[in-house]
Amino acid sequence: MRTDQRCDTMASTQDSAQPVDATRRSWVSTMAMGTGLVAGYGYFANIAAQFLYPAAPDPRAWLFVAVADQIEPGSSLNLKTPSGQPMVVMRQGEEGTDADFVALSGVCPHLGCMVNWEPQNNRFFCPCHNGAFDADGHAIQGPPHASHQTLSRFPLKVENGLLFVQVSMVNSGNHA
Ligand code: FES
Repeated sequence: MRTDQRCDTMASTQDSAQPVDATRRSWVSTMAMGTGLVAGYGYFANIAAQFLYPAAPDPRAWLFVAVADQIEPGSSLNLKTPSGQPMVVMRQGEEGTDADFVALSGVCPHLGCMVNWEPQNNRFFCPCHNGAFDADGHAIQGPPHASHQTLSRFPLKVENGLLFVQVSMVNSGNHA
């Protein structure tokens, strides 16, 4: 092969490679731009949807628990809410008012074991890791105390001698 013939071949190879590279670069940049546009529009569509259709508020209801006088001072009831949340209702006083009662989550905030009211020790006790809580649900012993955890509290009321507890109708875990 002659030298001038070899140069012609190399030149033609470089000429044909340039349009392929340019086409590939163009395709990649178009895809990147398209992906960016789709992501951007999706983000703003999500914000618009949240503004136009806000999440429904947590539906709550008053749940009848018991005739107030049927719960002796110092005793407790273990219940489950309609959404399946364990709850402990405990009576502390003898006035027959809301202040006599406390309704707490029956689920230990440490790792989710069930707590029980111990009237002889005036505490809620979790047997899994010897966690304990006072009558208001504040941790006083064990891992929950080290982590400053409390038992979630349910609002309650006594009306016409009947005890009611306000509960969520949505199953959202261990929270009251
Ligand atoms: S789960 Fe209750 S103390 Fe660990």
